[in-house]
This record gives sequence, structure tokens and C-alpha cells, in this order.
Amino acid sequence: MRAVVQDRYGSPEVLRVGEIAQPVAGGNEVLVKVKAAGVDQGTWHLMAGEPKIVRLWIGLRAPRVRVSGRDVAGVVEAVGPGVTDFEVGDEVYGTCRSGSFAEYAVGRVDKLTRKPANLSFEQAAAVPVSGGTALQGTRGIRAGERVLVLGAAGGVGSYAVQLAKAAGAHVTGVCSTPKLDLVRELGADEALDYTRDELPAAAYDFILDTGGNRSLAILRRALKPKGRLVIIGSETSGLLGGMSRTLWAGLLSLFVGQQLKGLISSERAADYVELRDLIEAGQVKPAIDRTYTLDEAAEAIHHLRDGHPRGKLVITI
Ligand SMILES: NC(=O)c1ccc[n+]([C@@H]2O[C@H](COP(=O)([O-])OP(=O)(O)OC[C@H]3O[C@@H](n4cnc5c(N)ncnc54)[C@H](OP(=O)(O)O)[C@@H]3O)[C@@H](O)[C@H]2O)c1
Repeated sequence: MRAVVQDRYGSPEVLRVGEIAQPVAGGNEVLVKVKAAGVDQGTWHLMAGEPKIVRLWIGLRAPRVRVSGRDVAGVVEAVGPGVTDFEVGDEVYGTCRSGSFAEYAVGRVDKLTRKPANLSFEQAAAVPVSGGTALQGTRGIRAGERVLVLGAAGGVGSYAVQLAKAAGAHVTGVCSTPKLDLVRELGADEALDYTRDELPAAAYDFILDTGGNRSLAILRRALKPKGRLVIIGSETSGLLGGMSRTLWAGLLSLFVGQQLKGLISSERAADYVELRDLIEAGQVKPAIDRTYTLDEAAEAIHHLRDGHPRGKLVITI
């Protein structure tokens, strides 16, 4: 089958389309004929092997999984031993273990579920990692709370704005100038431009941080005295990337009235079911900047890193 493969860590130029063996579904796994695959910052991190500490888990010298992509939407082609919840022909979405920038991918049954009926495969592939992270990051938001989403037009942020609105919050989204319209379209009550607007002091019950790498001091100043901060991440360099800020947040939280924490998201079908319900109810919708072919995967990653996409990017197969 055709797949986007890499033999070493590096820039998007390490990606090439090659012919490799089709993966085989093992126990509690299904083989998916991939229709579309989502692109997110995690795809870049796995491709680049950055921050370097992640290589302890994904392969010291080269990636253990040579095919890029985790988000997948497609049709079940075969089911492995022990699978009872899926049948050949089911339209599914979720994440896969074998790499989704490929004609076929294998995924575990606890990371896949039925695709939202009102989404195309392209739209569905834009949901799992970013939507799942936003869902986990916005849990606990209550109706009437004032919520700030930093990076509101990004992959995670575009879902977080909609999820916080669905929870009944008053939402302010922070983004760059060309994306202010998108953030309002996503449902934000207010949109702030990070190139010129300051964050107001003691204004928010809840802050979800997905971009900008602001200091904890700045974030705490914008929170109310009993407010909560959830750090999802931001693109920074160094051995630990943005993880040191997250570690400090956890430590500081022990001594102050505000709750400060980082989130490491998990991939799970239960969240994709919850997202599907919200999507089918019309409360959440993916914002897609553009789609690419398998041969354009490197171009997609360049656009993700440098092109300031509006919402999500998707590879179609
Ligand atoms: N902890 C976890 O488990 C987890 C899971 C998923 C993602 N992440 C991390 O979380 C971060 C966000 O992921 P993503 O997929 O949403 O990335 P993304 O699509 O690149 O979105 C990040 C957004 O942040 C915006 N931004 C840049 N500077 C900003 C600033 N000063 N103030 C406010 N917004 C700013 C960017 O806008 P412009 O492009 O207009 O500058 C962009 O829209 C990434 O670092 C990713 O690696 C962590």
C-alpha cells in the first residue's frame, strides 16, 4: 500500500511516499481503509522527534512507527480476533496505532467509534486528537463562567471555544488578527487579538492555554483569585519543550488559591462518542483550513508550522 514514511527524525523533507506492507489487525483491532487523516502539532512532534525527551518513548535514533498520522476516518476493511463491536463496512473515526497517512491503518477498538453521521470523512478526521484534547481540557466548566481560550483559532482551541459555549460559559478567544472573524464564527462572545490586546486582570474563572507560551505570572494575573488554569501546550524549543511550565504550574498550585495544572491528553473512543453526540446535535463543528493529498504531506506539515492555518488541516487518501 502507499504510505507516508520516514526513516529518521527531521524536517518535513524526511517524509516520502513509499510502498509498504499493509498492516494486519491483531486482537481487539480493526483494519481501516483510510479516507482521510488529520494533521496536528503532535504529527510534527513525532516526525521531528521534538522535544528530544519524547524519543525515550517513540524511538531513540529513529521513529519506531515509520508512518505518520494518528487521526483517522475511514471504513472498516477487516476485524481482528475478539472484535464484536465493529463490522466490515462500518464508517469509523478515531486514532490508529500504525500511522494514518496511508491507504490502510490499524486501530484499537477502544480508540475508534462510529463516524458522526453529519460529517464527511475529511471533517471527521479533523476531530479526534484536537477535539479529544479540547474535551478533556474543558471538563468542569460551568454555565455562566467566564472562560478564556488562548489559541482559539488553532486545532485544539477551535474545539475548546465551541465546547465551552456548549457548557454555557461566556467565552473569550485569543488569536491573531486574520482569525478574529473565525473565532467569533465558532461562537466566542469576544475575540482578542494577541498582537495588540492585553489580557484583562482578574477576569476569568477558567483559562485554557493552547498557544503563546505566556508566563504563569501573566496567566495568573488574568485569572480570578479562585480561577482554574489548564495548560495544554505551546510550541517551544529545548529538551523539555513547554513541559517545564506545566511542572511549575503543578508545584505552584499547592501554595496558591488558584488551580493550575497541565494536561496530557489520552486517546479514547468514549470521548469520540461524546464529541459525536455534540457534533450530531449541531453544537460542535470542525473548522478546516484546507486538505492535502498523501503526496503533499510535507507541504501540509510546513503549512501547519509556518502557515498559521485557520483551524485544522487534513490529508485525503
Ligand atoms: N498536552 C497535550 O496532551 C496536547 C495535546 C494536543 C496538543 N498539544 C499541544 O498544544 C498546542 C496547541 O495544539 P494545536 O494543535 O491546537 O496547535 P495549533 O493548531 O498550532 O494552534 C495553536 C494556536 O495558537 C495560536 N497562537 C500563537 N501565538 C499565540 C499567542 N501569543 N496568543 C494566543 N494564541 C497564540 C496560533 O495562532 P497563529 O497561527 O495565528 O499564530 C494557533 O492558532 C501545541 O503546542 C500542541 O503540541 C498538547
